Amino acid sequence: MNESKIADELIALNQKLLDSIANADWKTYKNLCDAKITAIEPEAPGQVVEGLDFHKYYFDLGSSKTKVQTTMCHPVVHHKGDMAVIAYVRLVQKLNANGSPITAASAETRVWECKDGKWLHVHFHRTPLV
Ligand code: GLY
Repeated sequence: MNESKIADELIALNQKLLDSIANADWKTYKNLCDAKITAIEPEAPGQVVEGLDFHKYYFDLGSSKTKVQTTMCHPVVHHKGDMAVIAYVRLVQKLNANGSPITAASAETRVWECKDGKWLHVHFHRTPLV
């Protein structure tokens, strides 16, 4: 597969992952992630969390009752062998408690590893921008 096709595949997989978060779709999220995924994100201040349990907590809270839309802005993919890194700014459009639309922005780097022919999400780092 050429580099452009691999980049397209990883961008599509990453969008599927972000949509699963927006929809609280634990089955899809779990299926895309390595069981030993590591994460650096504001929900775990100052920590590197390992494994899926930490993330499941938020899925178990359920999805927003209103429409949420997630956009990856200018995703850049670096691919070497069985590893790939995707970096972008994530925009999440949603409604606040008053029903007004708001947008949250974060810079994200997500790492994927191809294991037995299947890409699995193995690490991410998210920094809120606003
Ligand atoms: N907090 C879960 C994720 O961003 O993948």
